[in-house]
Amino acid sequence: MKTGKKANPAIIVIFGGTGDLAKRKLIPAFYNLFLDDWMPEKFAIIGLGRTKLDDNNYRERLKEGLKDFSRTGAPQQDTWEKFNPNVTYFQSNIDDVNSYHALAEKLDALDQEWGVRANRLFYLSVAPKFIEAATLHINESGLANNPEQDRIVIEKPFGYNKETAVALNQLLTNTFQENQIYRIDHYLGKETVQNILAFRFGNALFEPLWNRNYIDYIQITVAEQVGVENRGGYYEGAGALKDMIQNHLLQILCMVAMETPASFRAEEIRNRKVDVLRAIRRIKPEEVGRYAVRGQYNEGWIEGKKVPGYREEEGVSSDSNTETFAAIKFYLDNWRWQGVPFYLRTGKRMQEKHSSITIQFKAVPHSTFSNGQAENLMANRLTINIQPQMDIRLRFMTKRPGLSMTLNPSEMIFDYDTCSTQSPEAYETLLLDALNGDATLFMRSDQVEEAWDVITPIQEVWESRDSLDFPNYQSGSWGPENAEALIASQGHVWAVNAHQKASKSEKKTNDKLKK
Ligand code: BG6
Repeated sequence: MKTGKKANPAIIVIFGGTGDLAKRKLIPAFYNLFLDDWMPEKFAIIGLGRTKLDDNNYRERLKEGLKDFSRTGAPQQDTWEKFNPNVTYFQSNIDDVNSYHALAEKLDALDQEWGVRANRLFYLSVAPKFIEAATLHINESGLANNPEQDRIVIEKPFGYNKETAVALNQLLTNTFQENQIYRIDHYLGKETVQNILAFRFGNALFEPLWNRNYIDYIQITVAEQVGVENRGGYYEGAGALKDMIQNHLLQILCMVAMETPASFRAEEIRNRKVDVLRAIRRIKPEEVGRYAVRGQYNEGWIEGKKVPGYREEEGVSSDSNTETFAAIKFYLDNWRWQGVPFYLRTGKRMQEKHSSITIQFKAVPHSTFSNGQAENLMANRLTINIQPQMDIRLRFMTKRPGLSMTLNPSEMIFDYDTCSTQSPEAYETLLLDALNGDATLFMRSDQVEEAWDVITPIQEVWESRDSLDFPNYQSGSWGPENAEALIASQGHVWAVNAHQKASKSEKKTNDKLKK
């Protein structure tokens, strides 16, 4: 988390420097940190790749990326000219230790030129099959020989199941100490997700209510409108459970459910989060059908455009068993949350891009109101909208102004749109933290392994049994009907769908009134 202090001189080495992530996320994030004066006084970004390119060609590619993907748009020429001498390209072969020796010489030369041993950040933005070679060669060439100053950042997937995740962690810890390893889950860098900690632990008001006595259930929805885009090949081996639930949604659940940490130190927070993962009741294989629903999108319409079904996407098998939607009901076995269902849901090609957390409080124990008002009573609800809408809203009942006692739900809202500063991108927050050596928002090995453990039974059942009803939801819908049934059995509905329906019917009424 930002401290306001500039990081020490740093050399950032991006493995996969010509890849999509570097262009779309990493370079725009570093550039915006530079614009906002967060980058160290002395820094170098070295992009690695097999392609033959000179520094200027490389910089031009990155500049194009900024135009398309940076939150601040195309760079101003004068700022770009100050930024770009810090960026160079280094042609290399990830499998060849000689490339690493040559890179070590380049890094040593920079240290000499600056008169200081700079921090080194190795960003492994490469396919999982290259991680082993990269870590072994980084080790052999002595590139990361200072545990206090050298860090490695890796992207998901952290394995494909618990076993491979453990193996990957072992591989990494043969070369690096755990405190040098930064496993990125970009959801943790999102402004609204970080705000959960401020909201929960910066207010005395909510924490006494934050438990099974007052909370009825919790929902976490991450709905995407996009399909698998050009990642069909990767997605076929992943699916919504591994791609989203194992990491992003379980991490959000941890932020919502964790106990109060003694301090904001990375280890304190990560300990509290891992406690949550351990407390999640493991679903038995024979119970998977009762606790989890999977779906796959069919063709349909999104914002007036016809879109293909998942099985028609490039790189996807025509009888694919991969789920593009998952909804799961979890319980936590601990004092705070016993008996409170946590409903998690994510899907592609849903009606809207919408991510939110709903904390549904219990209804009042007794209704004081008569003459038909009792049924107007709605239980309190706290909604944290993560994206694209970013706000926190608390719903409570009020009296509608007038002579009769008519109850009306009202909302108190903290809306990011009213803040004067633009929110940074998740990668800006996370990369700056990695430069500063703050691992609070990154995943520790035990968190990753526990998260795999949580989903293992579901993963095994889904992988071993073909889903007979795929594709089972239309693009542009809110997912398969079974997902409604999953929570309807407890008398609950998905807040997001209900909210959309309510606002649509409100709109209709307003339209009628206008006529
Ligand atoms: C990634 C998943 O981790 O998160 C993608 O691999 C998904 O499938 C993406 O689309 C969603 O991220 P965001 O920030 O757009 O919500």
